[in-house]
Amino acid sequence: MDPVTRLGVVGCGLMGSGIAEVAARSGIDVRVAEATHDAVEAGRRRLTASLDRGVRRGKLSEEQRDQTLGRLSFTRDLGDMADRQFVVEAVAENRDIKTGVLRDLDKAIEDPTAVLATNTSSIPVVDLAVVTERPERVIGLHFFNPVPVQQLVEVIPSLVTGADTVRRTRGFAEQLGKQAIQAPDRSGFVVNALLVPYLLSAVRMVESGSARPDDIDRGMELGCAHPMGPLRLLDLIGLDTAQAVAESMYEEYKEPLYAPPALLRRMVAAGHLGRKSGRGFHTYDS
Ligand code: CAA
Repeated sequence: MDPVTRLGVVGCGLMGSGIAEVAARSGIDVRVAEATHDAVEAGRRRLTASLDRGVRRGKLSEEQRDQTLGRLSFTRDLGDMADRQFVVEAVAENRDIKTGVLRDLDKAIEDPTAVLATNTSSIPVVDLAVVTERPERVIGLHFFNPVPVQQLVEVIPSLVTGADTVRRTRGFAEQLGKQAIQAPDRSGFVVNALLVPYLLSAVRMVESGSARPDDIDRGMELGCAHPMGPLRLLDLIGLDTAQAVAESMYEEYKEPLYAPPALLRRMVAAGHLGRKSGRGFHTYDS
């Protein structure tokens, strides 16, 4: 199977920039698309800062950083994805935004065999596949935050994904040095289906006043050896993203355990989004 040499990544937020970084470090030419000039510049800064941090921590040399940056190009025009063999969509966890991007990519990409992968955390892949003219080439490829650190990707074929698309996606994951598991096309797949109810339970504990955020986090860090407690993890994921994921899962299952608690909604409304806004269940220096 031919390795991917020309990758597209749409969206350069937390996830998109991580995916672009890992791919460029693996030697792949990566074109990154963002919607606005400011978003392109923010994405470029995020990627450069992450690579600089890698240099400071001795993970890569200055020369490797520069070579990696040389493999990254940025655009605001999805038409520039025309020559890509594989594209990962990593825009906001919003059904309308994702379907719009997939429709545009489907039109823009010249190679009819190119794979369109979505990094959705919770939207059924088939719902996104059927808006394109190539549903058999659409697949879920779910990365974990921080992408350069977490080994896992979930590969999520929909009911209409072709076997060749699954093979190529697994091959691409291997190219990136990731470990793949195959997950069902059900909202939340494997990991979020287990993780999200746990995170929401921690929010309910704070909401009911039964335990303080620090105690909840330290409890899971020291008692269960989790690298971070549930509220710190929510802050890392972003409370807005967590709310969107919980809403999709609640829409699918109608189970109260997936319903975003009122406290989570209020914090998102207040702009307390976690690390990215400097304040969530904990506070962070910029
Ligand atoms: N980019 C690159 N490397 C990073 C990084 C980043 N953004 N953040 C941390 N690292 C690396 C560091 O360089 C360091 O590497 P070395 O030990 O080799 O030097 C290592 O990770 C540990 O980092 P730190 O010492 O700075 O911090 P830490 O030990 O507290 O670890 C953490 C930070 C990696 C985030 C760790 O706490 C962790 O793994 N937490 C759990 C994260 C998790 O559960 N993610 C899944 C979220 S769910 C999701 O993403 C799915 C969804 O759909 C919502």
